[in-house]
Amino acid sequence: MSFPTHRPRRLRRTEGLRGLVRETRLTTAGLIYPMFVCPGTNVRQGVSSMPGVAQQSVDQIVEECREVEALGLPGVILFGLPESKDATGTSSTQPQGVVQRAVEAIRKASLKLVVITDVCLCEYTDHGHCGVIENGEIANDATLGILANQALSHARAGADIVAPSDMMDGRVAAIRDKLDDHKFENLPILAYAAKYSSAFYGPFREAAQSTPQFGDRRSYQMDPANAREALKEVALDLEEGADMVMVKPALPYLDVIRRVREKFDVPMGAYNVSGEYAMVKAAAANGWLDERRTVLEIITGIQRAGADIILTYHAKDVARWLAP
Ligand code: PBG
Repeated sequence: MSFPTHRPRRLRRTEGLRGLVRETRLTTAGLIYPMFVCPGTNVRQGVSSMPGVAQQSVDQIVEECREVEALGLPGVILFGLPESKDATGTSSTQPQGVVQRAVEAIRKASLKLVVITDVCLCEYTDHGHCGVIENGEIANDATLGILANQALSHARAGADIVAPSDMMDGRVAAIRDKLDDHKFENLPILAYAAKYSSAFYGPFREAAQSTPQFGDRRSYQMDPANAREALKEVALDLEEGADMVMVKPALPYLDVIRRVREKFDVPMGAYNVSGEYAMVKAAAANGWLDERRTVLEIITGIQRAGADIILTYHAKDVARWLAP
């Protein structure tokens, strides 16, 4: 029953045949483009470790969103670089905050894009941690109310989805409660459920100016060695009311993406993070990798592992490459 009866190469002979039997069909339908909103007008400040990515003021964000929509991409996720930072991330909850204003402006521009907002404190605290500090530690419960207020302010501005990335225990429930209390019971939560403490966030911390000023994030983000624990985190977030979950980063955690996909029947996202992007960009710039083939293979791999939604800085390029 094997060779010469079976010859798998028969179905690889032409592009027509390969296309017919392709198991993973890449489309832009699940790609989300991350963007960084900063104060001011007419600001477009490139991020050196992420070629092609910039910190942009609200007016520029709206312009790029038009481009993103025209490319056929379904949505964006917004991160904020506030005008001021303090110990409790006060600027993250204000109606006049950068992200809130950006969401309003995108809404006003009548774009159909799905607007996701990242809910976290690290970009807004002067110490750069994702929660408030009590006795030298990142305090879990004292952080929840601030995250909930931040999510509510995003909802009021017109966000379509809020996405908590802080990794505090109980934050999905706190956000769900707060939203429901204010008549936002129809606003979905995309939980960064299995977010690992990763070296691959390095370039993002330049982009979002969110490097912790002391210590690291290991007391709240997950240990890269753990996969079973990811299933527990996902189960807890779903119990608390998450509508969708995310695994992050993507490439070193394809096994986790696959295990979450097999165990849970909810939409799942994967974040192809800044460091994954920077590696490809650096290698391509040196002529060491073919950027287009590399990126399409990476996105295919993440989708094949089971992700429905992929957050990626490559989204605009992928849309151009896949355009008919
Ligand atoms: C904020 C947050 C981070 C990322 C998304 N949300 C950084 C971090 O936890 O340090 C990383 C995204 C990327 O690297 O592209 N909590």
